[in-house]
Amino acid sequence: MTGETMHHQPSKRKRGEMIAVCSAKGGVGRTTLTVNLAISLFKKNIKVGILDGDFQFGDIGLALDLQSTFSMKDVMEEIENIDEFSLGNYLCSHESGVKVLPAPERPEYADLVTKERVNRVIDLLLQQLDYLVVDTGVGLQEHTIDLIEKADQILIVTNLEMATLKNTKLLIETLEVLGLSHKVQLVINRADMESVIGANDVKDILNIEDPIYIPNNFQVASQSLNIGIPFVINQGKTDIAKSFFRMAEQLTSRREISFIKEKNPNVLSKLLGFKLGKGGSYE
Ligand SMILES: Nc1ncnc2c1ncn2[C@@H]1O[C@H](COP(=O)(O)OP(=O)(O)OP(=O)(O)O)[C@@H](O)[C@H]1O
Ligand SMILES: [Mg+2]
Repeated sequence: MTGETMHHQPSKRKRGEMIAVCSAKGGVGRTTLTVNLAISLFKKNIKVGILDGDFQFGDIGLALDLQSTFSMKDVMEEIENIDEFSLGNYLCSHESGVKVLPAPERPEYADLVTKERVNRVIDLLLQQLDYLVVDTGVGLQEHTIDLIEKADQILIVTNLEMATLKNTKLLIETLEVLGLSHKVQLVINRADMESVIGANDVKDILNIEDPIYIPNNFQVASQSLNIGIPFVINQGKTDIAKSFFRMAEQLTSRREISFIKEKNPNVLSKLLGFKLGKGGSYE
């Protein structure tokens, strides 16, 4: 990523935001969501990276049809010699412009991954990026808990199947116990699929406000994964792609709002400081 044009907002460099994509059940659409969300964010002229946090069986490389030279294995082995700039050499550039750090090629290499090393990699990436979208392993295995704790936002993906909802509820409750519920955003994938439970009931079942809805379109979603071209690239007019563009809009506007909120105390402090004079005290 060194020497690249910084084509974009926000103009003030600020640590990027990490979004962890997780789910209580496998096969509900984490990888689909990760790649399509990342590219939708990138289309808004935002610097975006993907980290495949499914360290054993990650398939981001497949979903993006990447021929990468390096993976998380190499980064873990070289971590002592890697800095913010040299890390860029280990990233794979997807043709969309998104930077990707793929999972190790073999499941046993996941043993090289430690919380401290991954956190360091994430911190270095967030110095360069506005968003880092992380696909995690299924459920709450140790690596996934570490990633969830580190994340600024946790997207929990569910569908309308009874078993998925039951486990999603347990996942949400566990995150509540861990004190992480303020970071949680629920995403109901395949929201209009035929099911005994309607998408509208999910809010009440899971006790979650304002979920994001992604429509069901197996033909587009499945073909996209199989050919390794995220549908937001070449099927932008479909409802499923449009739902990702909306999600990207929603997530970025939320972040802009929090930027403004963060600025307010300073403005207020300055105003109060001005009124109170130098010796004045205020909270
Ligand atoms: N909105 C959708 N509509 C229809 N099919 C979908 C949708 N999202 C994902 N799928 C399909 O669901 C399947 C699983 O998707 P995906 O691989 O993204 O899930 P995953 O949670 O990453 O799975 P794993 O647990 O194996 O990593 C794929 O066949 C994909 O095409
Ligand atoms: Mg996956």
